[in-house]
Amino acid sequence: MTLPRSYRIAVVAGDGTGPEVVREGLNVLEAVSKKTGFDVEVIPYDLGGERYLKTGETLPASVLGDLQGASAIYLGAIGHPGVKPGILEKGILLKIRFELDQYINLRPVKLYPGVWTPLKDKGPEEINFIVVRENTEGIYAGIGGTFKRGTSEEVALQVDVNTRKGVERCLRYAYELTRLRDAKKKLTLCAKTNVLTYAHDLWARVFEEVGKEYPEIVQDYSHVDALVMWMVKSPEVFDVIVTNNLFGDIITDLGAMIQGGLGIAAGGNIKPKGVSMFEPIGGSAPKYAGKGVINTLAAIVAVSKMLDHLGEREAAQAVEEAVKQVTASKLKTLAAGKMGYSTSEVGDLVVSALS
Ligand code: IPM
Ligand code: MN
Repeated sequence: MTLPRSYRIAVVAGDGTGPEVVREGLNVLEAVSKKTGFDVEVIPYDLGGERYLKTGETLPASVLGDLQGASAIYLGAIGHPGVKPGILEKGILLKIRFELDQYINLRPVKLYPGVWTPLKDKGPEEINFIVVRENTEGIYAGIGGTFKRGTSEEVALQVDVNTRKGVERCLRYAYELTRLRDAKKKLTLCAKTNVLTYAHDLWARVFEEVGKEYPEIVQDYSHVDALVMWMVKSPEVFDVIVTNNLFGDIITDLGAMIQGGLGIAAGGNIKPKGVSMFEPIGGSAPKYAGKGVINTLAAIVAVSKMLDHLGEREAAQAVEEAVKQVTASKLKTLAAGKMGYSTSEVGDLVVSALS
């Protein structure tokens, strides 16, 4: 007798609309686990703005320790209007990424059937690429300081950290991914070598060097300013884009828009041989919280990405197919409050499309 495959999923529903979208994602997870035959144990963690306001805690060491023992982490959203910007983001979201060394932020930009895109004359054939964002260094490292703060002579420094190790592992991941994808076998480095002549020279050199091990992959380069232009004008030229933390943050919000908005965009914070975390990339959307109008599809796509990462390919595909059915034949639009269905109804539609 073989034991069923089983996973411990740490769930951080978080702030704002996080809990409502995560609830639907977990319903889908449960349904697909029964259908394809694996066990999931869901362990909820109460982290976020409310906890911080009550106790002053962001991510207690004991919780961090627990997260390290999970099969994967499923995150809703972090961000609270009552808490100064930076505290929860740095104290929870970035802390998990850094402490668990989730050095890749993987963000597919894929237009599903039936989904409206603001790009004229572009469809699912043209909008289907993936962004590999470095996720543990760059300007996000939090190194810097101020001098003469609050005076007219104030100096503020924020250091862009690029290490050989960090850059190389990110580029290697991107090359491997490009090799595995059944697509153009083209990897585009997005940087700014014409201005960041130290940091991005490192990226460019390592890109070329590691690329020698992948002769079947076409190496492509674009400055970030030009790249955002191409993302709008000719998204079909891209297969995999690899970039640093800050550029990746910015270009993936543009990516989310061309794939139909934050209602559908999901990503993974990946530690290849460790604990990864999956999330809808939109924020906590406080103005929609508790109203049952937010789109849960991004959170459901995040479940599909999580399953894929856990090696449950069949389940991952089943969830993605179910989402495609729902976008193709049910939802009027993907926008909050305009879907023609409530948050939980959208979750139910995906669950029924599974069977
Ligand atoms: C994201 C978010 C975060 C980031 C914020 C909330 C710190 O925008 O996941 O893209 O900048 O990485
Ligand atoms: Mn962002």
